[in-house]
Amino acid sequence: MVGGTRLVGDVTVGGAKNSALKLMAAALLAPGKTTLRRVPDILDVRVMAELLRRLGCEVTQEEGGSVVEIDVPEKLRHQADYDLVRRMRASICVLGPLVARCGQAEVALPGGDAIGSRGVDLHVAGLERLGVDVRAEHGYLLARTSDAMRGASIWLDFPSVGATENILMAAVLAKGTTVIDNAPREPEIQDLCRMLVGMGAVIDGIGSATLEVTGVERMHPVEHATVSDRIVAGTWAVAAVMTQGEVRVREAVPGHLEMALDKLVTAGARVELTFDGFEVSMEGRPHAVDVVTLPYPGFPTDLQPQFIALNAIAEGAAMVTENLFDGRFRFVQELRRLGAQVQTDGHHALVRGVPRLSGAPVEATDVRAGAGLVLAGLVADGLTRVYDVSHIDRGYERFVPDLQALGAIIQRVEID
Ligand code: UD1
Repeated sequence: MVGGTRLVGDVTVGGAKNSALKLMAAALLAPGKTTLRRVPDILDVRVMAELLRRLGCEVTQEEGGSVVEIDVPEKLRHQADYDLVRRMRASICVLGPLVARCGQAEVALPGGDAIGSRGVDLHVAGLERLGVDVRAEHGYLLARTSDAMRGASIWLDFPSVGATENILMAAVLAKGTTVIDNAPREPEIQDLCRMLVGMGAVIDGIGSATLEVTGVERMHPVEHATVSDRIVAGTWAVAAVMTQGEVRVREAVPGHLEMALDKLVTAGARVELTFDGFEVSMEGRPHAVDVVTLPYPGFPTDLQPQFIALNAIAEGAAMVTENLFDGRFRFVQELRRLGAQVQTDGHHALVRGVPRLSGAPVEATDVRAGAGLVLAGLVADGLTRVYDVSHIDRGYERFVPDLQALGAIIQRVEID
């Protein structure tokens, strides 16, 4: 890409990756055909579809469209192999539904990934509270119930999104009531709860830090539309500010992005709500803004790299504190190749804004870092090449065509 153009125009946001993957796993809870709408056409969804097929489901994905149909058999296979789990850590979310349906599950341990050492201890402890026996053997988590799972009180040490999803998807078919305290409140968790309720589950406290699940005997298939992707919407908002452009983000939910949009206003942007989303416009160079990532409704860690990119060209200096993932600053060394002045110390990054970045070859290290590097490239002098964009494909639909439509000089090239 060649930096320097303002982004101007409309862009439409699809369903959230972090919701769609879990909704697909939730389909496993009911034999029959579940239809999911507004599923983003991204790499991770294709990996999840493949995983469900290996478990015995028939999955059809409309070519270039957003409807996914999952036909779940009465009898499921219960193994999720390493070759898929290593491609996508979120595969771990089949653990809960498989134990609930089959009484057993074997899911490869995800291990660490490019954004740090992400454990599964909270997933395991939660399932154990429900009466599931979980062991790690030969790189697999083996989960088994001798009799029916029983509801329990679970206090989470940390409001883990993934652990809560697994616990929820097991608890809906357990006997009795499960209470999850210190539960995460992310819109994607709420979306999953709503789909489960649509399938016959009984869940109270949706959107709060205490979820109460009363187990039912059986769930039924459902038709459900995925919540809008707040991280993609936020990425477009940051892109508008960095390029001093004017972008209308459609089919987005500004209420899911309050903290990030407020930061952009502090940086000098104008944010206006529209009937189906919001519009962001910016004149002049943004001011630096401090950011501290926290569980929802705090500032999302998945927008942290994009805000480091913004601060890299802002007026002034900002402190960015990452509280969720320990490896998330790895991309900073790539950003430095573009001339950014960023100093990291543990989970803090001090970013001193420079007036111009200068184009260079860089490498995407994970999906959000990849997005952050593209944003930086859009405001860098000359040519920037971002390698390994398959990371970006994991979470962004039509990223390059959408950027082109907004006026960016960018193209995707295949390299042998
Ligand atoms: C999900 C999202 C990710 C987002 C994150 C936080 C998906 C596919 N990914 O990740 O994009 O950034 O929520 O909003 O939905 N932890 C443990 N033990 C556990 C589980 C988690 O120590 O058993 C730690 C992790 O290492 C991390 C923190 O808790 O430091 C947050 O993890 P969690 O909320 O579980 O995030 P994910 O579900 O992995």
